[in-house]
Amino acid sequence: MVIALKGRVVQLDVDSIPKYWYNIQPDLPKPLPPPIDPSTREPVKPEALEALFAKELVKQEVSLERWIPIPDEVRGVYSLWRPTPLIRAFRFERALKTPAKIYFKYEGVSPPGSHKPNTAVAQAYFNMKEGVERLTTETGAGQWGSALAFGCMLFDVKCRIYMVKVSYNQKPYRRTLMRIWGAEVVPSPSDKTSFGRRILKEDPDNPGSLGIAISEAIEDALTSENTKYALGSVLNYVLLHQTVVGLEAREQFKVVDEYPDYVVGCVGGGSNFSGLMWPFYYDVVSGKAGKPVEFIAVEPTACPTLTKGVYTYDHGDTARLTPLLKMYTLGHNFMPPPIHAGGLRYHGDAPTLCLLVKEGVVKPVAYNQVEVFEAATLFAKCEGIIPAPESAHAVKAAADLALRCRELGEEKVILFNMSGHGYFDMSAYESYLDRELKVYEYPEEEVQRAVSELKALYSWIEELER
Ligand SMILES: Cc1ncc(COP(=O)(O)O)c(C=O)c1O
Repeated sequence: MVIALKGRVVQLDVDSIPKYWYNIQPDLPKPLPPPIDPSTREPVKPEALEALFAKELVKQEVSLERWIPIPDEVRGVYSLWRPTPLIRAFRFERALKTPAKIYFKYEGVSPPGSHKPNTAVAQAYFNMKEGVERLTTETGAGQWGSALAFGCMLFDVKCRIYMVKVSYNQKPYRRTLMRIWGAEVVPSPSDKTSFGRRILKEDPDNPGSLGIAISEAIEDALTSENTKYALGSVLNYVLLHQTVVGLEAREQFKVVDEYPDYVVGCVGGGSNFSGLMWPFYYDVVSGKAGKPVEFIAVEPTACPTLTKGVYTYDHGDTARLTPLLKMYTLGHNFMPPPIHAGGLRYHGDAPTLCLLVKEGVVKPVAYNQVEVFEAATLFAKCEGIIPAPESAHAVKAAADLALRCRELGEEKVILFNMSGHGYFDMSAYESYLDRELKVYEYPEEEVQRAVSELKALYSWIEELER
């Protein structure tokens, strides 16, 4: 039911919170290549994943069911901020002088300020149901960490968060948010794990990376009592929890009698983009969309996983604790330049998204942070909302599509995911306004070097690619 349609905002009531998550697995153009255990070179058995994740989450990870029920307790928590608004960016359209209609789904209204609690709450809930007492995780910019701290607080689960050191120092307020919600926050690399200690011994000033923080959080979970690990992106179950975003957006478009021609989202690991696009992809493959839809994944030129990476098997973390996943990768030793979109600095991406890119269903694009902040600042001047640096990549891509519509005189409908607000990211905007932001293009040679290293490590990987 619609409870508000104030010209520019479509707001549904709480009964419209989806009752099921959508799982893309049965509708993928090809079966998903399985995760591989490098010691056996065989697919990892789901039971092996139960050392790290709650059983129910492992079940969802490998499920071929299209619709997965959302427990009432989780929907109850979602109702603190869901359904989120679908907003038409009229003033942004006017500033771009475009005939296109630009809509965005605004996930910044959640208490932690992003889409991340859609899965954090579900993960905390399923772990609590199975008697898990403590969760560990990593965080880049602090968005995921604060979301998990929030979810764990609601279901009384303890939480330790390994925060990439450069962000720990750059973003002290997100750290405070996590602590208010009861989590312990540790700068990574840290002295809490043997992997962290090893890195610090070699390089005491190591700024950290998501790959290192993941290794620390996994080691902690594997070596501690009644502790499991939580991940904020990449895995199938994480992405499917995010489909509440796209499922609501579909209902909201019915209210305004529109349907998107373009669905756009930024990509760090792929969760907010997939959460928005999967339900529209389902419409396309089941013949319900009624028109072609272009899916556009946006990443930084400083971490160009989908646009410059290699599609192969690689580890999800630097210490090589995770199985090998088939994905576009910049190599698991990737050390990202310290750009401000901390959540987009991951070396790999979700295997489902990588498959869709490989098959030509999703088109990847990359932008540098200067042009991204320029678009985000224009957006803020028009619409008021300050985009998270990550979401600002989607704003830039939407603006470019709108400008193309202006050139071609096309009245297309553009939908993008405003995955979070940027109110804790003022230092990034400050650097932009002071013209201190740098353009950074990740060099092609670095990708080649990383992939050669990977192939030297596992000479048999090429056999898996066939
Ligand atoms: C606001 C926001 N958007 C996007 C991302 C990227 O993650 P994903 O690709 O999983 O949505 C992050 C990650 O931290 C984030 O904080």
